[in-house]
Amino acid sequence: MADLPDWPERYQSDLTDAEFDTLAVRAGQMRTPEGEHGEAIFPTSSYVFSSAAEAAATFGGDRDGNVYSRYTNPTVRTFEERLAALEGGEACAATASGMSAIYALCIAHLQAGDHMICSRAVFGSTTVLLEKFLRKFNVEITYVDLLDLGAWQGAVQENTKLLFLESPSNPLTEVADLRAISEIARSAGALFAVDNCFCTPAAQ
Ligand SMILES: Cc1ncc(COP(=O)(O)O)c(C=O)c1O
Repeated sequence: MADLPDWPERYQSDLTDAEFDTLAVRAGQMRTPEGEHGEAIFPTSSYVFSSAAEAAATFGGDRDGNVYSRYTNPTVRTFEERLAALEGGEACAATASGMSAIYALCIAHLQAGDHMICSRAVFGSTTVLLEKFLRKFNVEITYVDLLDLGAWQGAVQENTKLLFLESPSNPLTEVADLRAISEIARSAGALFAVDNCFCTPAAQ
């Protein structure tokens, strides 16, 4: 939770040992002093400060706090913390659309000369993104059959940095062996990304 000392602890849910269903409605929620049941929504682009010095310290990174909603916003943070809790993940970064998530993943983690392996069974716009844009930046891409573990292993190169797939795939709903492919990624020292469009963490 963010460092907000004035926030009343007594309003917050104790999620120690909470199960999936409880996390699905409570994780990441930070109640305001109003004591609301459901999470508050913060439709703000920017934030107020008690002084220019406090603003300067916050913008400068010497003090925790929101400065602009493109970076942090309490509504988005609730979503991110809840999704991370449901995935059993360390953290989550939310984007405004699925395509921007895939684009951000590639741009943040790949550079010219890198290689990625991608399932052939991916959303059409994902293929367009990779073929039309990522290739422009000299990223090598090998497509493999989603269900063919030998093909995933066989496609690994020295410069492989990312293995990417959809499971269940859209539109054929083929289901990948995530554990086996994650092992291939791990032994290649590459990242493994799963576009989990249909299942949500509840069913994946
Ligand atoms: C599997 C999959 N990935 C990514 C996307 C893109 O998501 P968005 O439309 O939010 O950009 C879609 C959209 O349907 C999808 O089905």
